[in-house]
Amino acid sequence: MARILITSAIPYINGIKHLGNLVGSQLPADLYARYCRARGHEVLFLCATDEHGTPAELAAAKAGKPVAEYCAEMWEVQKGLSDGFRLSFDKFGRSSSPQNHALTQHFAGRLAEAGLIEERTERQVYSNADGRFLPDRYIEGTCPNCGYERARGDQCENCTKQLDPTDLIEPRSAISGSTDLEVRETKHLYLKQRSLRGELSAWIDGKADWPVLTTSIARKWLNDGDGLQDRGITRDLDWGIPVRKGTEPWPGMEGKVFYVWFDAPIEYIACAKEWSDANGEPDAAWERWWRTDKGADDVRYVQFMGKDNVPFHTLSFPATIIGSGEPWKLVDYIKSFNYLNYDGGQFSTSQGRGVFMDQALEVLPADYWRWWLLSHAPESSDSEFTWENFQASANKDLADVLGNFVSRVTKFCRSKFGEAVPEGGAYDAPEAAVIAALEERLESYQRHMEAIEVRKAATELRAIWVIGNEYLQEAAPWAVFKTDPARAAAIVRFSLNLIRFYAAISAPFIPDAAAAMLEAMGSEAGWPEDVNAALEALPEGHGFTVPENLFRKISDEERADWAARFAGTR
Ligand code: 2FM
Ligand code: ZN
Repeated sequence: MARILITSAIPYINGIKHLGNLVGSQLPADLYARYCRARGHEVLFLCATDEHGTPAELAAAKAGKPVAEYCAEMWEVQKGLSDGFRLSFDKFGRSSSPQNHALTQHFAGRLAEAGLIEERTERQVYSNADGRFLPDRYIEGTCPNCGYERARGDQCENCTKQLDPTDLIEPRSAISGSTDLEVRETKHLYLKQRSLRGELSAWIDGKADWPVLTTSIARKWLNDGDGLQDRGITRDLDWGIPVRKGTEPWPGMEGKVFYVWFDAPIEYIACAKEWSDANGEPDAAWERWWRTDKGADDVRYVQFMGKDNVPFHTLSFPATIIGSGEPWKLVDYIKSFNYLNYDGGQFSTSQGRGVFMDQALEVLPADYWRWWLLSHAPESSDSEFTWENFQASANKDLADVLGNFVSRVTKFCRSKFGEAVPEGGAYDAPEAAVIAALEERLESYQRHMEAIEVRKAATELRAIWVIGNEYLQEAAPWAVFKTDPARAAAIVRFSLNLIRFYAAISAPFIPDAAAAMLEAMGSEAGWPEDVNAALEALPEGHGFTVPENLFRKISDEERADWAARFAGTR
């Protein structure tokens, strides 16, 4: 049994996330957390809302609400949706929590003591029309690196380069669109990442087992051009974590706040404290996950995120941790994802194009989405959601293969033997063959899950479902029953046990269906460490019920309706 710390990139508070956001971090993180728990590991799975910075301020202004009130409301909404998708966070925290305020100020203080923070008078874009500075997303323009025309002041979405607002070509205000901008002087704190370049580089070099998508992005920003840049970690904004040196004021920084990308990853740690505080536990409870001097030495820490987040997690956040000189846990494995596109284009929050988390749950239960999204996770390249593909995958994999198996077995048994595992007969060569096939497939399923190869794991799981269907088809208990009821009983007994087996191993992907299957089988989950034994777990005479249709089919009409509804009008 190991201890595994899992974090998902924390979603911005501004609005409801779309399915592309979901599959880029939270959903695969949940898959992995559920799998690790099922294998008996001790897991701490954390996520939170990312509440500071310009996205929150802009969205609150648009909603006409004070930003704190807006964030509190949106946290409730996002929490409800993550519950709806069965995301099994141990804690869904908030980056605006008092715990994160204290910890962020603590890190800044430590970095200052280590001589890694420098005050610089810098030139910031000031908008005359708006009467304010325009940090980060308050400004848009053309990316100097790749030419993308809608790059934001903090990062280019297209090429992932971290930017400063003054880098943008033809800049304009994101508030008013005004191009009446000038550059004014203001004082800010910089984290001297350049002086940590050697340590960061050596650390990345040690991560030969990381996905290339992760390390190539890190190396690119470590080595390209003039290499790793020092980063401004403060902003002229009202909303955020006030700049302090630990618990002391920071002279000259009054009225300024930390940059959202400085405090957001620190929330991964603060969230653990939110978790233990909420449970009324002492600090030791969270520190054993995060402090290598307090037991976190044997923790494996895995992060999940979209590729645009990789530079912050491979460079900026490790720089904060290493620079603090304190024994905090560094990430052991970063699983990053490409983008999910929507029906020939991109998901678009501003145009309401694509399916958003709330809408998805209005249309179908979570398992349908979980299955499609995870089995099509954008791992090796971007992937694309189409309604045709979604319909085909739900109807075939879930309804025809898994759902149909469960329904045929339970209904046949009820009609011929009653609602209890039938007695008589014995497993024979066909069952032995299935067990052998399952042993092989299960091992490879486990291997893919451990390696967090999400699509490969889904393919293997589907193949395991197919084995049951083919077995049932060939063993044909409905025909055998006429001449040899005892043999038919053994086939049905084996098949009922398969349902329980499927529930256990499918739960990380489709937790609700798995729970319904287990309930129908009157059984508890348990990972089938021994396939043979697992297929004898339900003894003769054990009662069961026929579950309600586990999965329904999506009709062509529904598909067409939904395609029209989500084309972009929200
Ligand atoms: O890209 C995003 O959605 C960011 N809110 C992710 C932050 S992850 C972190 F560092 F906390
Ligand atoms: Zn770019």
